[in-house]
Parts: sequence; structure tokens; C-alpha cells
Amino acid sequence: MASELVRFSVAMPEDLLMDFDRLVSKRGLAKNRSEVVRDLVREALVEERCAMPGVEVMGTLTITFDHHSSDLQDKLHAIQHEYFGNIVSSMHVHLDAHGCLEVIVLRGEAELVQDIANLILGTKGVKNGKLVLTTTGRSLWG
Ligand code: NI
Repeated sequence: MASELVRFSVAMPEDLLMDFDRLVSKRGLAKNRSEVVRDLVREALVEERCAMPGVEVMGTLTITFDHHSSDLQDKLHAIQHEYFGNIVSSMHVHLDAHGCLEVIVLRGEAELVQDIANLILGTKGVKNGKLVLTTTGRSLWG
């Protein structure tokens, strides 16, 4: 159950407030200053929690690559088998005749998830990619 809303006032420089209002308007009609402040606080808390040792995180890694690129697919496949305990699922999308997009879902301790992502991102032939982390709220160290 969501807890009750509490009001507080915030002071900030006028130019920062103008930039903030631009950000609020970019997030769509349904968003107002309060909702965007809440979103930003939640994002910061998730980021802080993901940096804590022993915390279980979920990661989604999105990569793009050319499937003609030498033995790239074999290498990506081998990494995913090596870390089968941390790789929950993957989805492969054929973008066109050559291009592929893969979304890999990872689960585990933050540092390990980051290491596996770096291994995949660093594989020769991976064009670009990004790892997004969130927490499960569970600690792996009890
Ligand atoms: Ni493909």
C-alpha cells in the first residue's frame, strides 16, 4: 500500500528550475513537478542500492551486432552458456539482412552482472550496447 503523500518545499536557483520544468514537460502531459521529483528520487535510490555489495540486481543488456562478423555469435553463445546461472533469458531480433539486436536479461550480484555485461560488450564485433540495472530488493548475503 502506498504511503501518504507529504508536502515539502524546495528552494533552487531560477535557471535550474527552468531547466527542471523543461524536463517535466518532456516527460509528457501526465507528469507534473511532484511526479518527476518522485521519479528522480526513486532512480537515485535504485542506483544507490545497485552499488551496494551483496545486493541482487536484475540487468537488461541490449546489444547490436552484425551476424556476419567472424565467430561473434559463437563467442556470445559461449559466454551465455558459461554464465547460465546468471543469464535468465535472451531475445534475438533480426533487424535486416545483416544486423541483429539482442536483449539479455541477467540476474545476480551487481559486480558480477556488470562483469558479464562488460565481457559481452567487449566482444569484438559488438557494435554498441547498454546495461540497465534495477534491484530485486533481495540481499544475496542474507
Ligand atoms: Ni539475427
